[in-house]
Amino acid sequence: GTGGHIENIDFSFDGAFGAYDQAQLQRGLQVYTEVCASCHGLQYVPLRTLGDAGGPQFSEAEVRAYAEQNFEIFDEALDDFRPAIPADNFPANTSAGAPDLTLMAKARAGFHGPYGLGINQFFKGIGGPEYIVALLNGYADAPDCTPDDMEGAYNTVFASGGYPESCKDEAGHHLYPGSWIAMGQPLYGEDVEYADGHPTTLHHEAEDVAAFLMWAAEPKMMARKQAGFTAVLFLTVLSVLLYLTNKRIWKPVK
Ligand code: HEM
Repeated sequence: GTGGHIENIDFSFDGAFGAYDQAQLQRGLQVYTEVCASCHGLQYVPLRTLGDAGGPQFSEAEVRAYAEQNFEIFDEALDDFRPAIPADNFPANTSAGAPDLTLMAKARAGFHGPYGLGINQFFKGIGGPEYIVALLNGYADAPDCTPDDMEGAYNTVFASGGYPESCKDEAGHHLYPGSWIAMGQPLYGEDVEYADGHPTTLHHEAEDVAAFLMWAAEPKMMARKQAGFTAVLFLTVLSVLLYLTNKRIWKPVK
């Protein structure tokens, strides 16, 4: 099946010099914690990284308080639950059959083509965060062809869910974009209250949580871009020096 159209979004972290927006990551963490965490785990993300430079960058005390107030960890040694500490990871959560979100922003693509060439991705990026924003905004009234006993919620962007026969034409082509997803619409707007007064429309909340999930999937993106820039600079200088050396070595021959 095919999903609906996914818009490019100008995230702060796009481009060669892009960087995560600390305040946005903090807001996205809040959306994750207050809404998504009831179903989705982030089991490969260490809680202490919430204090790392380039990330949400909370103080040590804030990370400790966040861990303690929001998560309980089963401790084998205690044979009991205890409040989470910064040395723990975010917990896994499989209770609702929801996938872990640690790598989700890199596991999905927002852009394809044209003609399988991937040129859109070259210019706009892979589009994982854009996909997440579109998915969260993609819920719509199910079309009239939907049978009464259809399971899940109709989403114009989700491509891999169930699809009723009654919504296909004779050739088996889907009459509507998207498919039916096992996740009920999680965000409607005004689902959280931001301490920084940032707007809480559905679109803003979705962008914030998508940015946070991009950071979760790629926490070292800024260090990587920096290293890439340093390497290009270094190689450029080296090229100039080699050119001049070459000129000088061959001068007597020419
Ligand atoms: C799937 C994000 C809240 C249950 C997903 C997927 C994403 C996502 C990106 C994967 C879609 C795909 O495979 O392409 C989020 C975010 C949330 C949120 C950002 C908070 C804003 C919730 C909540 C629940 C839930 C609260 C449970 C009540 C599920 C389930 C799936 C899923 C069951 C699997 C859907 C399927 O494969 O049909 N979610 N989710 N999610 N989510 Fe959520």
